[in-house]
Formats: sequence, structure tokens, C-alpha cells
Amino acid sequence: MITKNNLSHIIAIARECSECAMLHFNQLTKENIDYKIDASPVTKGDIAVNKIAVLGLQKIFPKIIIVSEEFKESQKQLKNNNLFWLVDPIDGTKEYIKGSPNFTVNFALIKDQEPIFGLIAQPFTGTIWFSYNGKAWKLDKNKEVVGAKNIYCSEINIKKLKVISSLSHRSKDLENWITMIKPIFEENIGSSIKFCIMAEGKMDLYPRNKPTMEWDIAAGHSILKAAGGNIFSVSGMQIQYGKKNFRNENFLAVGKITNRLPSYFLTGLNKLNKVKYKQDLNLAVNALKDKKLVVFPTETVYGIGAIGNNKKAINAIYAAKQRPYNNPLIAHTFNKHEAEKIVEFTKIAHLLTDQFWPGPLTIILQIKETNLSNILSQGSQTLAIRVPSHPVALDLLEKVKIPILAPSANKSGGVSPTSANHAKDDFGPHYKGKDWVLEKILDYGVCEVGIESTVVDCRDETPIILRHGAITANMIFNATNTKVLTLNKTQELISPGLLKSHYAPNAQVLLNQKRKITDSGWLAFGKIPKSLQKQENMFNLSPDGNLIQAGKLLYSGLRFLDSTGVKIIQVMTIPKVGIGIAINDRLTRASSSKEKII
Ligand code: TXA
Ligand code: MG
Repeated sequence: MITKNNLSHIIAIARECSECAMLHFNQLTKENIDYKIDASPVTKGDIAVNKIAVLGLQKIFPKIIIVSEEFKESQKQLKNNNLFWLVDPIDGTKEYIKGSPNFTVNFALIKDQEPIFGLIAQPFTGTIWFSYNGKAWKLDKNKEVVGAKNIYCSEINIKKLKVISSLSHRSKDLENWITMIKPIFEENIGSSIKFCIMAEGKMDLYPRNKPTMEWDIAAGHSILKAAGGNIFSVSGMQIQYGKKNFRNENFLAVGKITNRLPSYFLTGLNKLNKVKYKQDLNLAVNALKDKKLVVFPTETVYGIGAIGNNKKAINAIYAAKQRPYNNPLIAHTFNKHEAEKIVEFTKIAHLLTDQFWPGPLTIILQIKETNLSNILSQGSQTLAIRVPSHPVALDLLEKVKIPILAPSANKSGGVSPTSANHAKDDFGPHYKGKDWVLEKILDYGVCEVGIESTVVDCRDETPIILRHGAITANMIFNATNTKVLTLNKTQELISPGLLKSHYAPNAQVLLNQKRKITDSGWLAFGKIPKSLQKQENMFNLSPDGNLIQAGKLLYSGLRFLDSTGVKIIQVMTIPKVGIGIAINDRLTRASSSKEKII
């Protein structure tokens, strides 16, 4: 995407921005400082640097939309584009005003919700860090691009942690978090320079539990990742870009990890009662070992799980969900190594899992002939398997030590659950029935993605998408460099769970609706037309038309509208790009339901 030639041009723009920033820095007076609505400062320097950055990038990449912190209009222009620039002309304006050297110029190129290029310049020292060709680089002042040196994260040693965190955005919760993980060294620094320090291997962790915007972290994220690190959300997913209002949730930036970090490193970024968590987890582990069912969170939807080595326990899932026996279940393991013991990995499987595990991807493979595999696959020759990213799910899997079979925690054919309450609605109030007991519900927040994992048949050289999800066909193509097939209707029998009618609320669902029918509720997306503005029973998936937000809210929306008692749910048109493909897939299945004729 970024050629060598492009890179030299981008670096030249960054240097021009740096010079401009320094010029203003040296003449900064109070009169040059303004305050934005959120009370954050903006200086003449920010505005001047912004202009150079935006015009410069526009000239090299005339077709790519540029979203900048200091250019509000650009933030409105972005409508689910898969490719865009994020620019923060001066990150650390507070430092800049104080006369501190730690302010930076940031450019990041985002593709499919991920930063694929990032550059950070520190005007004060003239140093530039960037990602290029899958590696991270540091370029000293005035050096030619060929003089850039590779930088790498150091491998994290859990007993010798070095933590870097924000200088001005402190809180009691942050201090508690730091005390909890017991670092041997701690430092506070302003601006995105923290990511560069980590990418050079000098620091291990950067926790953040105060708001940040995507342009504050995207360039640093790309550099850190190229150096061997990453930035994770509380549900263990790599931070995504193009979210609602470009706002990030809490995150943890990490250096190179060989083993999974303790879960409380992530869950502890939100308020967490460690004692209760331990008790919850023990109860859940014991219940599973006792062949009872447990509901647990994943980054996609909540699952209802049974221990995978016992037929009676597995049958309980079918009984609880009233699921047809011909619909097989997904096995969950806590890492790839565990999965490799059960199924025959292919080249495609390796490529996809190396990129997307842990995360919202399920692969279908041939089983290895072992006792456990046979029970997990219930006699079939294939098995669906995934490693979730959610730290609670991973803790559960690691403690049980045996794969957990888990479908979504809803009644078969109904709407999937994205919160513990959804599962309670479906299986309560008694949580037991003939041949099943749901012993424990691990209630740990709302699911980040909100749509079930992408299911990909990886048995052959060509990956076949059996169910769409957050990992899109485009992303699979980029990871494998192979043509990607999607099931057509007749082939859908391969995946019996992909019945035409699925994910269906009680009400009838009508798609691509514009005009109102009597007694209906509306599942809206984007701006609501005037004629519907007084409509009751309206659930807007995303007033700003943001698909990531819509994915997260889809099932809550369907469940809410059902609870109003409407007979029909009219759905506005939702674009079929990115996760919009999966949203449309689910809604299509929800709409072709149960011969409900009105
Ligand atoms: O995100 C998810 O995948 C969630 C969480 C809990 O991990 N689980 C989930 O499971 O959505 P479930 O059972 O609701 O959907 C699994 C889908 C079904 O459509 C099923 O037919 C398909 O995967 N599937 C399972 N085993 C398969 C196999 N061996 N071959 C083809 N399709 C399979
Ligand atoms: Mg399901």
C-alpha cells in the first residue's frame, strides 16, 4: 500500500510539519491558545501543522479520505470507508504549551479497521518512528530514509514489568491497576511518544483507562505492532478503528508477549472485584466439570458451554437450547496449540489463525482420530473450532483444561445474546429443565463485536466462508492471498446451523424499509427520515451510521423491539460493507422466518 517512494514523501511532510510545530513552539504566547468544547487546548501551531499534513497527504493520496483531529468536517465525511488516514497534527498539546519536548505529529493509514501504516515525528528532537514492510523503524534527525534503523519490543517478563503511562490523565483506578500488577519500574510521559518508547523495547505496558481518540493512538499502534507488540481492548481484541465518534474504550498497549498475560491485566482496566471474579470462575469451572452448563462472555456473543469430553454434558446444551441434533457445536480452546491436538491444521488454517486468533474466527477442519475429537465432533469427521479473545472465556478454558463446546446462549433459532441479561431472559427463571441445568452465568459486560464469529471452512486450499462475521472476506483474502469463496444456497447444507431461518425475533422482520406499516416497530440506521421521527418503538442501531456500533447493538435492538410486542419489525437499509455484510446476513435470516404471514 505504501511504496518506498510514498514513504519518502510522507517523511518529507512529517519533517515540514515538525519545522512548523517548532516555529510556533518557540514563539508560543497565551494569545495563541484556544480551548475546544471539551476544554482541551488548541494552538495556532496545531492549525498550521494540520494544514501542512492534510494538504501534503492529499497530494500523494488524492483518493483516500483524511480524517484529522483539527478538521471537524473530515470526521463527518467518513462513512464506513475501509481505507482512510487518521491525522493528529500535534498530540500532547498540553506538553507543547508547557514547553515540554514530548509532543508529536501522527499519521496513520487505516484499512479494514486496522492501522497498516503509522508515523510519529517528535519535532523537538527531529526523530521519526514509522512502520514499513512489516517492521518498525527509527530515523534520526536529517537522516535519509535508508539510514532508518529497525526497532523491536522487548519480550515481556512478568516478574520484571516496566510500565509507562500518561502524565496528565491520571486516576485512582489507574494507580490501583499499576499497584496490582507490581511493576519494577514506572514512568509517566505525555503524548504518543509512549508507543515509540515501547517499540524500542524500553517499556512493556501502557495501560489507559481515560478517554482517547483514534488519532491519538493509531500511528503508535501500527509502529508498536510492527515492533512485535499490540494494543488490546478489555475483551482482548486488537483495538479497531473507525468506531463511533472515533472514540476508544479502555486499552492496554503491550510489548512482545510469548505467553498470555494474566486476565486481570485486561479485565482490571474496568472496575473489577478480584475476589468475586475468582469465586465466579471457580464455581463455573466446577459446574462444567460436574457436567452442568455455564454461560460465559466472549468478544462476539455470550456462549452456553459444556465440557467437551462428556456426552451427557453435551446433550444438555441441545436440551437447553432446543437445538436440532444435526446442528454441530463449536469447540473453544485457550490457544492454538490446544486446537492442533484435536484437528488437522492446513496451510490456510495456519495463515488465518496466526492472524486472527485469539479472536472472532471459527475454522472448520478435519478431526484427528482421538477419543476427545470424536466426542467433540459427535461422530462427524469435521470440527468447528475457535480460540476466543475474551479474558474471562480464556480463563475458564485454561482452568477446565478440556475444550468447551459452546453455541450462542439463546434458544435455537432465536436472537443471540450480547449481554448476560439476554441469556437470563432465555433460560430463566429456573435455569433448568429436563436433562439440563444451567449452573452459572458469568456476567462480565456487553460483548464488543455483538455478532457471532466468522466461520470458515479451511479444509482445502480455498477458504470458504460459511458464516459472515467481523473477520470479513476482504480480511481473509489479505491474510491468505487466496481467492475466498462464500457459500451459495445449495451448499449451505454443509453448515446445518446456517438454516435460512435463524436469529429470528418473534415479530416478522422486513428489510430495506422506507414506508411505515401500521403497528410496526423500526430498526433504524443513520438519520431517521422526517416521516418516521415521531414513530414509537424505534431502535436506532447507529444514529451516525456507524456499522461497528450497529453490529454491537443489533441483537439488543431486535430483542428490545420484540419486547414491545410489535408484530412487525421494519428495518432500514444497512450498507453491505465491512461488518455490514454480517449484519445484513443475520437480518436476512431473521426475516425469512417461520412462515409468519401477516
Ligand atoms: O461467536 C461464536 O461463534 C459463538 C461464541 C459463543 O463462540 N458461538 C456460536 O455458536 O455462534 P453457534 O452454535 O450458535 O453457531 C455455530 C455455527 C452454526 O451455524 C453451526 O452449524 C456451524 O457453526 N458449525 C458448527 N460445527 C460445524 C461443522 N463441523 N461444519 C460446519 N459448520 C459447523
Ligand atoms: Mg447461534
